[in-house]
Amino acid sequence: MRKVLVPGTFDPITSGHLDVIERSAHLFDEVVVGVAASKEKKGRGTLFTLDERVELARQVTAHLDRVTVLPFENLLVDFASALGVSAVVKGLRVTTDFETEFQMAALNYRLQPELETLFVMSSPEHMYVSSSVVREIASLGGRLAGMVPRVVEDALARKYATR
Ligand code: PNS
Repeated sequence: MRKVLVPGTFDPITSGHLDVIERSAHLFDEVVVGVAASKEKKGRGTLFTLDERVELARQVTAHLDRVTVLPFENLLVDFASALGVSAVVKGLRVTTDFETEFQMAALNYRLQPELETLFVMSSPEHMYVSSSVVREIASLGGRLAGMVPRVVEDALARKYATR
């Protein structure tokens, strides 16, 4: 049984994330989507609460029966050990992702060398989609045009309507 972890902050989950999750589900028997609490992300809080991010991730992966979504507040390597996963899968989009991802993979390797980090190249149509770009477009009332699943688009509209 090959089980992998797809971790992220998912604030909110995008079509690019979903693409990486779906592709991981084709390659492995079981996929756990780990939603990090990430309270201090870049010194600011997240737009969506942890519960909201988990709920959105559950809704958009509901059609994938070997995919489960779980929150985590501890170190990625500890969460991965507790789950018994063989690897962590992350998506790579533009080259600027590389430095951060390379650093995280190297640190995780120092913390737990048995845990592999695997990278999946983003599909070209999702190359420039990120949660931060999506938040900015939604906050300014722009059209998200497939960058996020419909339920996420609706959640963003509700979030910014009440801010
Ligand atoms: O999608 P993101 O926000 O780039 O994902 C980052 C994430 C959640 C994978 C990373 O912040 C993380 O692993 N957080 C858990 C805490 C941890 O283990 N930090 C040390 C990572 S080197």
